[in-house]
Amino acid sequence: MTHSLRIPDLTIPARPDAGTGWPAGVGPGDAGDAAVADVDVIRVRGRARLAGTVHVVGAKNSALKLMAAALLAPGRSVITNVPRITDIAIMGEVLRRLGCGVRFDVDDPVDPMVTVGGVARSRSVTIDVPEQPGVEADYDLVRRLRASICVLGPLLARRGYVRVAHPGGDAIGSRGLDMHISGLTRMGAEIAGEHGFVIASAPDGLRGAEIVLDFPSVGATENLIMAAVLAEGTTVIDNAAREPEIVDICTMLQRMGALIDGEGTSTITIVGVPRLSPVRHATVGDRIVAGTWAFGAAMTRGDVTVTGLDPALLEVALDKVVMAGGLVETRADSFRVRMDERPRAVDVVTLPYPGFATDLLPMAIGLAALSEGASLITENIFDGRFMFANEMMRLGADIKTDGHHAVVRGRERLSGAPVRATDIRAGAGLIIAGLCADGVTEVSHVHHVDRGYPDFVADLRALGIEVERATAPEEPELTI
Ligand code: EPU
Repeated sequence: MTHSLRIPDLTIPARPDAGTGWPAGVGPGDAGDAAVADVDVIRVRGRARLAGTVHVVGAKNSALKLMAAALLAPGRSVITNVPRITDIAIMGEVLRRLGCGVRFDVDDPVDPMVTVGGVARSRSVTIDVPEQPGVEADYDLVRRLRASICVLGPLLARRGYVRVAHPGGDAIGSRGLDMHISGLTRMGAEIAGEHGFVIASAPDGLRGAEIVLDFPSVGATENLIMAAVLAEGTTVIDNAAREPEIVDICTMLQRMGALIDGEGTSTITIVGVPRLSPVRHATVGDRIVAGTWAFGAAMTRGDVTVTGLDPALLEVALDKVVMAGGLVETRADSFRVRMDERPRAVDVVTLPYPGFATDLLPMAIGLAALSEGASLITENIFDGRFMFANEMMRLGADIKTDGHHAVVRGRERLSGAPVRATDIRAGAGLIIAGLCADGVTEVSHVHHVDRGYPDFVADLRALGIEVERATAPEEPELTI
């Protein structure tokens, strides 16, 4: 199969009657592009305080997989409360290249809380899946969206053959696929690696199996569930991931006709069925975006109400904010965080859900960098996540890392400086840290932030922050 190497404009369109307030397209400058012409930067003035209300829309890490799950049933599925972010646009393109019709619409009716600066931040995505979807996901998309690997399970189940480019590692770590592969192999697939592709086939169909994961991998659990729903017989996944996004995917699959039991626990049982039906499903709220604002409120000694999410999904993170001296009030689908004094140091250990989320590690380091006392921060999920610490040190943070531990000694204030976003969460963490610094902080390569936060700048403004977004020329290449 051949495809143009030039990726079309993957921006999810704004409403035609609204200014987009959004960077145009997913152009040069995205991770991995060789010729980077310009970089987007976000500048914030320090000594600022987050105050007000912010609404979170659906979770990126759920919506991406819900879109892949739609592949399991021919016909029209509609997923609502999908965040308007770059990664979702790329997943839309992955599905289009597999022969699906993909349309993004403004969620209807639009909740006023979802609309900031005239632009709604959530979409509904309508996916028309053919009887015989394609079987290939190319590197030009997979390298930009590692989560494209989640089409492996559904396509293998539907078509018995699939070629997905190997995503490789990324800025937060090496990121293996061995558990995806060994689980599918136990279900009868033959899997090989060739020319940068993972090639899987199951000419006689997949069959149920007992699978024990070495580690509760989110991606492997999802791929195996999505393969098992159409396999023959019963699959039991032990040591499965328990993330709320897994529960959300299982809920959608159950409504499509899948027989799944035990989602949200470490043992998930799936009884395969011959066929699933398309469905309409609303994405669960984004606990990482919500957690970002919770920590932001604590770091800036602010007062922020977050709506759109059951705070029970953030329990451990909100407990840390309370231990640091924050006041947290929770309701059924919202919470409020207030911090009146300088935060106190707390130790944090990242773990699979329900433990403290690795995606909130930059926020935990940010809080520690401003707290009274020293915090021990331990990262157990990704080996590269402390790259963020180097940028924080440019802002004056006192951090010493040793393997997967970091000792952070808090300072009263950080010091504004130019820094670089290396991944989605690091980018958001640096912008929030900049609010607690003297002077101006300029965070470059913020296209990473666009991958996970629908219009971060508009949210910051709504919370009272002086912030601007600009395009700056990349440093010229020096040759001799
Ligand atoms: N791992 C293996 N082998 C495997 C699978 C995973 O060694 O077969 C390792 C990984 O290398 C990593 C660890 O296990 O060190 C955890 O990986 P996991 O599979 O749980 O994570 P993931 O599915 O690749 C998702 C989220 C991440 C989030 C992690 C952990 C998506 C698209 N991504 O990644 O989110 O940090 O779970 O909760 O769902 C983000 O949103 O910024 C992000 C990085």
